Amino acid sequence: MKKDADKTKAELIEEMVALRKSAEEERFKAQKLESISEIAGGVAHDFNNQLMGVLGYVSVAKGLVSPDEQIHPLLEKIEKAALRTRAITRQFLTFSEGGKTMREPTDIRGMIEESAAAVLRDSDVRCSLSLDEDLWSVLADETELPQVFVNIILNARQAMENSGEIDISAVNATLADSEAPGLEAGEYVLVTIRDHGPGVDPETLSEIFKPFFTTKQKASGLGLAVSWSIVKKHRGVIEAGACADGGLEVRVWLPSASNSDMSDKDGKEKVMEGNGRILVMDDEEVIRDVTGEMLKMLGYESEFALDGEEAVKKYRDAMNEGARFDAVILDLSIPNGMGGREVIGRLIETDPEVKAIVSSGYSRDPIMTEFREHGFCAVIAKPYRVAEFGKVINEVLSRG
Ligand SMILES: Nc1ncnc2c1ncn2[C@@H]1O[C@H](COP(=O)(O)OP(=O)(O)O)[C@@H](O)[C@H]1O
Ligand SMILES: [Mg+2]
Repeated sequence: MKKDADKTKAELIEEMVALRKSAEEERFKAQKLESISEIAGGVAHDFNNQLMGVLGYVSVAKGLVSPDEQIHPLLEKIEKAALRTRAITRQFLTFSEGGKTMREPTDIRGMIEESAAAVLRDSDVRCSLSLDEDLWSVLADETELPQVFVNIILNARQAMENSGEIDISAVNATLADSEAPGLEAGEYVLVTIRDHGPGVDPETLSEIFKPFFTTKQKASGLGLAVSWSIVKKHRGVIEAGACADGGLEVRVWLPSASNSDMSDKDGKEKVMEGNGRILVMDDEEVIRDVTGEMLKMLGYESEFALDGEEAVKKYRDAMNEGARFDAVILDLSIPNGMGGREVIGRLIETDPEVKAIVSSGYSRDPIMTEFREHGFCAVIAKPYRVAEFGKVINEVLSRG
């Protein structure tokens, strides 16, 4: 390239025009991306609210029929499909939000199945899955944790050169002290992924989790490094070793969400009942309606407000009448009105002891992740099921 001083005026102008043009193109691209993410976020938000109807009603309906009735397994299937859909809409919402993560008790069997299906789609690699029926739930970030399984299974697929079988198992494991490296005593879910490829030399085993370590052409060497950090964020451990036949075995230990576990021993979902009066603020009719059904099933009385002004008024009136609400559920965003963020301030002015739960589909909003700093006692991400809802209310009310 010529030095600037050697260029003719015409050449310099031409270059400037080209630069400006490409800067404009970049800006245009950025704007386009921004508006796409806004649209995606908006659609996901509306979609999420309707999904709250599906998931909420089906969880209520499931609670109304006994497990041996013919319709029960069907309702369970609808619920399962709705839960998967929830994971998808959350990904959309994350795309438009970014920010901090929120972990929720999750049955990771679906996550493992889906990750395997996605990675092995159009390949000749088969997958044998053995996932415990009564697998404990794990406090999982539904958008991050699947990446771990995807990365490991992808490596296995590549190691086996697209044919053969991968074995994946998930079991509950109770560990005593110093039974596994880096893990405290406690309850864990152990996911093991085995392939029958060439494996990794014993000397190299400690290298594979390092960033940029790769033995492949044109690979990033980041798959396992990213997985390692995601597992660490989940307070778990990831390790690798050799299988009997020389293939690689990767083990992922994740602490169970035992304290907040929602299943009792026979794997049936526990619905925590209670009593008291709950005020629900939401601008969406379907949410108010399904939340009302859930509260009824859980044994609570409910009142509703469509926006912040109404919520504050109802709360104050009830206080003045000596019939204080036991808890308030506040939607974070109310279009053209006062949302949870402002309402909580007003309610605390009226009643410093107010027990408020913030609810939103935007699970990564700073108010959702740092709800306590904003004056809330708890958080629940939409859409939720009756068991999840019951548990949150129960915790809030029992905190005295
Ligand atoms: N299942 C496996 N079988 C054999 N080698 C593996 C397996 N998984 C990972 N490795 C080794 O670990 C390295 C790092 O893996 P990873 O972090 O996913 O990066 P990448 O796949 O981009 O190379 C791979 O390049 C490979 O040498
Ligand atoms: Mg990889």
